[in-house]
Amino acid sequence: MRIHVKSPGRVNLIGEHTDYNGGYVLPCALDLTIDLFFEKKSKKSYVKTDLGYSMTFDVNIPYKKSNNHWENYVLGAINELKQIKSELSNFYCIIKSTLPSGAGISSSSALVCGLIKGLSKLNEINIENSDIINLSRNVEHKYIGLLGGIMDQFTILNAEKNKAILLNCENLESKFIKLEFKEYKLLLLDTNVKHNLANTEYNQRVSECKESLQIINGLCKENYSNLSQVNKVDLSKSKEKLGETLYKRASYVLNENQRVINSVEFIENDKLQEFGQLMYESHFGLKNDYEVSCKELDFLVEYSMKYDEILGSRMMGGGFGGCTLSLIKGNLIDEFIEEIKQEYFSKFKRKLNPIIANLDQGIQISLI
Ligand code: GLA
Repeated sequence: MRIHVKSPGRVNLIGEHTDYNGGYVLPCALDLTIDLFFEKKSKKSYVKTDLGYSMTFDVNIPYKKSNNHWENYVLGAINELKQIKSELSNFYCIIKSTLPSGAGISSSSALVCGLIKGLSKLNEINIENSDIINLSRNVEHKYIGLLGGIMDQFTILNAEKNKAILLNCENLESKFIKLEFKEYKLLLLDTNVKHNLANTEYNQRVSECKESLQIINGLCKENYSNLSQVNKVDLSKSKEKLGETLYKRASYVLNENQRVINSVEFIENDKLQEFGQLMYESHFGLKNDYEVSCKELDFLVEYSMKYDEILGSRMMGGGFGGCTLSLIKGNLIDEFIEEIKQEYFSKFKRKLNPIIANLDQGIQISLI
């Protein structure tokens, strides 16, 4: 038996850094994927990627952290599965990818979800998508050291073609939102500023948000279970105690959460101009209040503002590099890409990678 798993990247229309704050997000799956091909093997396991990395190991030897960053995704996924079934078969896995890594389109979650999906099938472990989501998130928390939310994994497992998922990250209730952008397209511009979020201030933002919530709960009658639920009156009451930095973080989260709700209304009513405006507002919140942007991302967003044909643009994903997402009129794309590539190169001496984001379904598994 040979198993093929096709695991997509994710695009998030709006709602950044709201997932681990129990807020709303609006993600979709990309048509760029990590493809994993599995087969059982009798002796040692062998995993090989088309980027030239490979590893050989025995699945039943106890977990030991590797010095090689990417190997910990594989070893972590296996160790999490072993909590469900202690003895696994050794295997052979070839990994091919059209999904750029470190670009903020969730290549690491696509890899981990793909590994868990394929290995659970290979070992006849009966698990639900919701278990795969949780195990995959454990891999990032426990073996990679990134205290991320649930958005990426949920999207990869559940997405439907040409739809966004309005996901409430507190209770995981979700609703599909049909996307019809007509003559507009989603364009990703990858800055090539590679980020490994575990080495950025991502975890610091997670703890700043926890601390903000504790302070607000200590001052107000409500016992909020997450930061996204706090109302504006209680936030203002807590302003002095929070201090400047935490107040900015908390304000951003509340505003961004509201922007997701408003965006859905605008998208459903064909008000793309208004939705685009919220994308810009989201970017400036991420830049000024949440402070997770960088000069390359800011340049791309600010450059986009010169064009009426670009309705909105913002940094996407965890930040500190990665890519921007823009809503742009289809007939401007070629000209715009040529121009911005040159401007970007002359300013930063880096290559800009444009990707037109076509939206597809979530993870697929087949026997071949
Ligand atoms: C990364 C994390 C997600 C989410 C985004 C920011 O992609 O993996 O859980 O927090 O950053 O919205």
